[in-house]
Amino acid sequence: MELAQSLQQIQPSYIREILSAATAEGVISLAGGLPDGDKFPLALMEESLLSLPNRAELFQYGNTAGYAPLLTHFKARFELPDTHTSLVCTGSQQALDLIARAYINPSDNVVMEAPSYLGALQVFGLAQANIISVSQEADGPNLQELEQCFAEQKPTIFYAVPDFHNPTGVCWTLSVRQKVAALCEQYSVTLVEDVPYRELRFTGEALPLVSSFCPDHSLVLRSFSKIATPGIRLGVVTGKAESIDPLITVKQAADLHSSIPMQAVLLDLLTHDGFDKHLSDLQALYKSRYEVLATQLTAKLPKYCHFNQVDGGMFIWVTLPPCDDFALAQAAIDNNVAVVPSSVFYQQGEKVTPALRLNFTNASVEELAIAVDRLVAVISAECGE
Ligand SMILES: Cc1ncc(COP(=O)(O)O)c(C=O)c1O
Repeated sequence: MELAQSLQQIQPSYIREILSAATAEGVISLAGGLPDGDKFPLALMEESLLSLPNRAELFQYGNTAGYAPLLTHFKARFELPDTHTSLVCTGSQQALDLIARAYINPSDNVVMEAPSYLGALQVFGLAQANIISVSQEADGPNLQELEQCFAEQKPTIFYAVPDFHNPTGVCWTLSVRQKVAALCEQYSVTLVEDVPYRELRFTGEALPLVSSFCPDHSLVLRSFSKIATPGIRLGVVTGKAESIDPLITVKQAADLHSSIPMQAVLLDLLTHDGFDKHLSDLQALYKSRYEVLATQLTAKLPKYCHFNQVDGGMFIWVTLPPCDDFALAQAAIDNNVAVVPSSVFYQQGEKVTPALRLNFTNASVEELAIAVDRLVAVISAECGE
């Protein structure tokens, strides 16, 4: 059977190859976007999980929009206005897919910062959207480019990760947030604000969601993968009811609904007395790992490499001099450290900034220090002392 044209354009996922090499014995992996499995809040979930056999009603078919008590909780938790509602999804990744299916026709313009989240590139690529990149700067997207793009290309969607971007870790400033929201309103572009790392801030105060400045021109995607566990596959998309309703129709066709027992367990977790402490412990742990990685990189990286300081999230982005970033990542694996080369975060044919994405949430501080030594040896060998 011949592959659909939409799939023929999708490149095989290099990241999958890296991740499989990264699990080889002796390799320290800074490649995945994995939370620390030892810190999953399983003890907080235990009572709820053990109660499931006595809650048979949860195992019946349920509503596509989600488990009603969880939807009620989201309304209060996210302070949604009466005009807005939630749709529970099988991870926030599914929300992206539903949005593309509901709102994107082939050749429609979708704007993203470059580099971009690989999963979003894949979803909008499969939808055969015309993906337009705007450059990302230290405080968010280049606003001049963004406005020009909105004015001239009339995109349907601006997809963005304003809190601790994947892959760069960039967090938009307040003023950029306000300006982007104003542009979305002015040019009637829907902002798809994807915030899986928002609650992983370990330094400074949270900034308002960009969508809080343009609530009627936005959809917000939240994930429970990083603050609970990825395996429960739960995320949520919120927005105006009239924008969410078409997503419910598409989800009905896709999988009827996400697991109701898991939604009930998630609700019990989010309302558990110990959940806030779990979150602050996680932030403190990731902060300590980030600080070790940043300190080691500052001390040991050659002068021609640079990296951004981050206040949260999971990633550090190390820029390199002109080089073959794939070859460098391969050489790193050969030296028992796995990282992701920047090219995978760009569309094919796009100008790539040579760089590496380093994850700091899944390795111990001892491993992080060894990983830096191994990485620096490879960079020095490939790019010079
Ligand atoms: C920016 C971004 N969006 C969405 C996702 C998907 O998250 P989920 O596990 O909720 O599907 C990820 C996962 O790493 C991500 O980095």
